[in-house]
Amino acid sequence: MRTSDTADLWWRNAVIYCLDPQTYLDTDGNGQGDLQGVIDRIDYLAELGVTCIWLMPFFETPDRDDGYDVSDYYVVDRRLGSLGDFVELVRMARSRGIRVIIDLVMNHTSDEHPWFKQARQSPTNRFRDYYVWRKKPPKNAKQNIIFPEVETSTWAKDDKTGEYYLHHFYSHQPDLNVSNPKVREEIAKNIGFWLELGVAGFRVDSVPFLFDNDGVDEAGAHYSAIDYLREIREFVARRSGDGVLLGEVNLHYDEQRKWFGGEAGDGLHMQFDFMTTQHLFLALARQDGRPLIKSLKQRLRLGATNQWATFVRNHDELTLDLLTNKEREDVFAAFGPDPDMRIFGRGIRRRVPPMLEDDARTRLAYAFIFSLPGSPCLFYGEEIGMGENLEVEGRHAVRTPMQWSPEGGFSEGDPKRMVRPMPDGDWGPKKVNVESERHDPNSMWRFMQRLIRAYRESPQLAWSSLELIEQDNPSVVAHVCRAPDDGWAMIALHNFGEQGTLVELDLPGTDTDGVLVDRFDGSRLPFAESGTARVEVDGYGFRWFTVGQGLP
Ligand code: BGC
Repeated sequence: MRTSDTADLWWRNAVIYCLDPQTYLDTDGNGQGDLQGVIDRIDYLAELGVTCIWLMPFFETPDRDDGYDVSDYYVVDRRLGSLGDFVELVRMARSRGIRVIIDLVMNHTSDEHPWFKQARQSPTNRFRDYYVWRKKPPKNAKQNIIFPEVETSTWAKDDKTGEYYLHHFYSHQPDLNVSNPKVREEIAKNIGFWLELGVAGFRVDSVPFLFDNDGVDEAGAHYSAIDYLREIREFVARRSGDGVLLGEVNLHYDEQRKWFGGEAGDGLHMQFDFMTTQHLFLALARQDGRPLIKSLKQRLRLGATNQWATFVRNHDELTLDLLTNKEREDVFAAFGPDPDMRIFGRGIRRRVPPMLEDDARTRLAYAFIFSLPGSPCLFYGEEIGMGENLEVEGRHAVRTPMQWSPEGGFSEGDPKRMVRPMPDGDWGPKKVNVESERHDPNSMWRFMQRLIRAYRESPQLAWSSLELIEQDNPSVVAHVCRAPDDGWAMIALHNFGEQGTLVELDLPGTDTDGVLVDRFDGSRLPFAESGTARVEVDGYGFRWFTVGQGLP
C-alpha cells in the first residue's frame, strides 16, 4: 500500500465514533443533548483519536423510534438545534481532521411525514405510490417481524381507505416504495443536500429492505436492487468524490457479498461485520476461541474498494440472530441471565462492561476488534466503559446520557426533564465518568486512547489480509495480518480463557529481524529464523507484535 491511499480511501482505516446528539451533551438546559453539545466536545473526540463521527438521526421526528422515524429529512429537530448548528459542527470537526457521516434512513418515513399524510388520503393521491399498498396483506405478512414484542404483522390497515401498507419496522414507519422513480429521486435529492452541507458519507439504515423493491414492479421496467445501489454509489462519487456508504446489513457473509457489489466491489463501500461481533460474544461466553476462528475463516476477503466496519457494541440490541439456537442460548446464559436483559428473543440490551464483569476481559474484546483488518466503530460511552440502565425501556437501556463528570455533567437542567436517567451504583457517573478517567493512567479511557493510537499508527493493518495461525490452545485466537507488498505484518494473540497460557507460534517466512516487537510496550521477543516463538498470554490477555517497518 502507499501511505497516500489512506487519504482518498480515508474510510478504509477510520476510527468511527457513533453518538446520538440527544444524549451527548445538553448546552441549553432543556434536558436534551444538542448539536452545540457535540461541537463543544470535538476537541475531546480529537484527543481520543477519533477520525470520523457518525451522528445518529437528528432530523425532525415524532420520536417514536429515537429519531429513526423521520417526518422531515431537511430539518433539524428543534430540540437539538438548527441547520446552522449542523454546518458549524461539520466545519469544527473538519478543522480537527474529523469527518462526519450521518444516518440515511430512507427505507421508511414516519407516518407523520407529509408524503404519508397525503398518501393515505385516497388511492389516487399523487403520493400514494410513494408507499407500498395492498388490498389484503400477503401470505408472508406474519414472517420476519423485526420487532416481535410490538408488532404482529408487517402490514397495517389504514382505516381511511381500508387498504394495507407495508412496514418492515414499526407500524408508524411505513416503507417507502423504491421501485417508484420519484422516490428514488427524493432519495438522491436528500443525499445531495447533506453532501452539499459537508458530510463525508452515510450510515445506510436497513439496507436489505431499503434496496429491495418489495415485490412492486415498475410498469414494463427492469428493476434491480443492486443496480440501484450502484447508481447511488456513483451519484455519491459524482457529488463528493470520496463519500462513503456504510451499510447496515445484518446477514451471513455469503449474503453480504452481493451488497458489496459482488466481485466488482462497486456496491456499498463498507458493511458492519455483524458475524464477527456475534461470534466474539460466543467466544467470550464459552471462553473458547474456536467459534470465532470458524467464523473468521468465512470472512470475505475484500478488495481495495470495500472495507469492514468492526464493532463490539452498537446502539441497538446486541443481536445474536446469526448464531444457532444453542449458541445464542449460551450467550444469553452468560451475559443475559435475567429475561429482562433480553429483547426480541434474539438480543441483549446491555452494554459490554457489565456483561463481561472484568476489566481485562472488556479490554480483550475491544483489542480483538481493533486487531482486525477493518475500520473500528465505537458507540459513545464505550471509551469510558459505561454501563446500561435496565430501568429504561427496551433498546434505550444502552442509550442513556454520556457520563462526563462524577455529577453526571450531561445537563444543568432539571434532572426530571433529562432525556433518560443515567444508571446509578457501580455504573453511575460517580464511578464511571470522563473527567476522572482522563486523569487516571490505568482507566478504560486511557486504554482506549492507546488502542486507537496503536491502530492509527499502523494503517497497513486496514489494507492487510487476515490469516489464522494454527496453535494448540483452544481458548486462544491467533492471527496474522500481512500488508501487501511491503513485508509489514502484525501478529495478534487473544486469550478468551480465564487462565494464562503459553502459545507456541510457528510462522515460517514471517521473520525479518529475528525479533517480535510488542505493539504496546515495545518489548522484544526472540523470533527464531525458522519462524517459531513462545509467547505468554495472560488470562483474558492479548499481545500484538509487529514485524517489519512501522513506528518504533
Ligand atoms: C436502526 C434501528 C431502528 C431501525 C428502524 C435500524 O436498523 O439501527 O435503531 O429502529 O433501523 O429504522
